Amino acid sequence: MSNDPVLFVIYGVSGDLAKRKLLPALYSLIEQDVLPEQYSIVGVSRQSDYTVAQLVQDTTEYLPDDSINHNALTALTQHLKIVHNPLTSKADLVKLKNELSDESSQLGQDTVRLYYLSVPPAAFSPLVQLLGQTGHNQVFANETTPPRLLVEKPFGYNTQSATELIQAADSAFSESQIYRIDHYLAKETAQNIMTFRFNNALFESIWNSRHIDTIRISAIEQIDIEGRANFYERTGALRDIIQSHLLQLLAITTMAQPERLESASIHAQKIKLLQAIQPIAHDQVASRAVRAQYEGYLHEVSNPSSTTETYARLLLSINNEQWRGTNIVLETGKALDRKETHIEITFKPYHQGAQANSLLFMLQPREAIVLKLLAKQPGLTNETRSVQMDFDYQKSASSKSAEAYQRVILDAIRGDQSLFASGQEVLASWRIFENVLQAWSKQSEDMQFYPKGSKPDTIL
Ligand code: BG6
Repeated sequence: MSNDPVLFVIYGVSGDLAKRKLLPALYSLIEQDVLPEQYSIVGVSRQSDYTVAQLVQDTTEYLPDDSINHNALTALTQHLKIVHNPLTSKADLVKLKNELSDESSQLGQDTVRLYYLSVPPAAFSPLVQLLGQTGHNQVFANETTPPRLLVEKPFGYNTQSATELIQAADSAFSESQIYRIDHYLAKETAQNIMTFRFNNALFESIWNSRHIDTIRISAIEQIDIEGRANFYERTGALRDIIQSHLLQLLAITTMAQPERLESASIHAQKIKLLQAIQPIAHDQVASRAVRAQYEGYLHEVSNPSSTTETYARLLLSINNEQWRGTNIVLETGKALDRKETHIEITFKPYHQGAQANSLLFMLQPREAIVLKLLAKQPGLTNETRSVQMDFDYQKSASSKSAEAYQRVILDAIRGDQSLFASGQEVLASWRIFENVLQAWSKQSEDMQFYPKGSKPDTIL
């Protein structure tokens, strides 16, 4: 990686994501000594009494290990600054720009400036427009690369609002400056899907509907909404996980081979794939979309008539030559019996009545690739039994997998957009679910209810 200085600006630094994900990831990068020598982290807060000490204390709770590396924590603290700014008027943004310009020139020549935006969707467009109007989108005198914007989801609530957000961002920043985070793409196994597919001749020739019966992508969580009632009431399981993370995983699992394994080629294939997914039609909603809510949710969000789903499962199909006929199932839910994310590829049985082979990409908590095959039972009979070839990352690797946000930050510093979602991809994703979202907002008779801790396969 280049050693150009980095100025990392965090909007919404007192918010949840900054202290749960971003700062712990920066701490780990400092610990591993992979950040450039010169770097500065500026947190922008609307709370006039929020301090660095408070931020570090809040972050400590979410640091990865029990044993804290005090040198890394001290370095993080020393490189942190908090700027108090309401961010509402042009004057506020001009003041901030002057402060950041000073900070950038102190860091030195060729500083790379990154803005991390974790703000509510309603605040996004006005803020991005103000950034543009006040010159934050331009290079400062000592800089040579245009500043980059790292954006957290949700990228809208439906096609229309996503279009508006994308247009607002485009009016101030070019697509090459915008990094829409999908932290599932940055998980170790997700990155390995492309390596696995495009480097092993064994699989690519059977990667199609002639050989694959079902692709099931499942991300289930044990945690409930953890008090985030406002956020979740407007989001729900489909928007929160399926529209973003699971569709991105589906895209890298099923896209055609990119010309090169680099950002532009990967995005070109992902967008083709997403556009080939058949949107669920109005009259298919009942048969292809399942939703459920955990018991106690209504009380938790203080809304007795809430129809927000905490579990969703969708049956999709991809309308292209390679995949027509393969069942695609995407599933997610909160307050279930375990935390587990995996992609299961079930092949068609070799002959009628035979057991099917399957390939499992396990993203979390265990990171592994498991191939289920049939083999002969040892001994004098010809009985077959199911065996597993299991590649477990932790057992076989000498180094630890990096937490997704560490990868997100490093790629943004390097200027590599491969693991981020493009504006076109976001729009193609919303289109698929538009009819489901509309149907679900109008009636709720199909809603099922499940006790917390349920197994997902009990939701029918
Ligand atoms: C986020 C969702 O994108 O992903 C959360 O907004 C969810 O609701 C989280 O809990 C899960 O992420 P991970 O990495 O723990 O699987």
